Amino acid sequence: MAIKRIGVLTGGGDAPGLNPAIKSVVFKAAEHGISTVGIYDGWQGLLGDSPEVWELDELTVRRWDREGGTHIGSSRTNPFSSKVGGQKPEAKIDRSDEVILNLRRLGLDALVAIGGEDTLGVGARLAKKGAPVVGLPKTIDKDLGRTDYSLGFDTSMRVCAEIIERSATPAGSHHWVQVVEVMGRHAGHLALWSGLAGGAFMTLIPECPFDMARVMARLDERLARGSRDRRFPRYAVVVIAEGAAPVGGTEVSVDAKKDEFGHMRLGGIGGWLADEIRKRSPWDARAVALGHPQRGGAPSPIDRLMGHLFGIAGVEAVLRGAWGQMVSARGIAPACDLALVPLEEAVKSLNLVDVPRHYDTERYCAARHALPPA
Ligand code: F6P
Repeated sequence: MAIKRIGVLTGGGDAPGLNPAIKSVVFKAAEHGISTVGIYDGWQGLLGDSPEVWELDELTVRRWDREGGTHIGSSRTNPFSSKVGGQKPEAKIDRSDEVILNLRRLGLDALVAIGGEDTLGVGARLAKKGAPVVGLPKTIDKDLGRTDYSLGFDTSMRVCAEIIERSATPAGSHHWVQVVEVMGRHAGHLALWSGLAGGAFMTLIPECPFDMARVMARLDERLARGSRDRRFPRYAVVVIAEGAAPVGGTEVSVDAKKDEFGHMRLGGIGGWLADEIRKRSPWDARAVALGHPQRGGAPSPIDRLMGHLFGIAGVEAVLRGAWGQMVSARGIAPACDLALVPLEEAVKSLNLVDVPRHYDTERYCAARHALPPA
């Protein structure tokens, strides 16, 4: 079947790199005489009776490769378990057939879905039902399987590293412990690598529940030495992933609400840790949660390049009719190979930090940075 018109959507948390990927899809499609429409707000935009779309041409998206967020909007809508308004308690029903019907109504021959585990999980299930969907990987959490890169990670890591580094100067001037809470949900990649790049004293990740007594012993050793001898630091920056928890404890969430994919909004462990440090020691401790600005702003050159490459590969996948496949990267631009992997496999299990290889190891973290299990 000749492909004439395709749709593109972005789902889940926004990330720098989405707009470059959209631009690249539009340009590559245009090269083949294919028109592209942007679906508003992820899967939400394909529900209802009269979906609205944005006709995207090369002039419209010309500068999008330099811009953050996603200009076509995003949502955490799950068409397989979607809320129906006006009912209490809110009922959730399978509305996936509406998505398929709307693809037809809009005259779309294919759909490029850009997202993480949840968005692409929906893509995989739709493809199984016969929908012409291909996926591109995006998530600052870097927790998607079967790909070395997902859009947004590099920019977010840089933002976090910069703030972690900047946190050290007030902490140093005033002699306190600065706790910096970094996103990443159940994966510690963002915290680990930004902590290392930003010069944190210690980084705590979800993959390794931490022992509070050992955290205190490390801090005491460092700050007590600095108190005795001014040549040594009398402060510390501790990075903690939002999904980290003490041994025997559980993740801290903002409230009890869950999104349509069953996720809680994590947050608050940094504040808890700073309180504990103050309770257990003479050291002052402050906490900052970096929140959404860590995925804000313009994409880094890596996210622009990866968005560019992913977009091209996504349209190539469409031309081959590779439904149910995701573009996957081996390596990162410019030294990067792209391949297709089944969406179903990419979302099967989370890609977490390989603790023996990247955390509990002298090579990357050295004993003073990580807090591996005793
Ligand atoms: O998945 C990306 C992410 O930023 C996570 O790191 C974080 O836990 C979550 O999204 C926050 O969700 P929301 O943007 O809905 O507050």
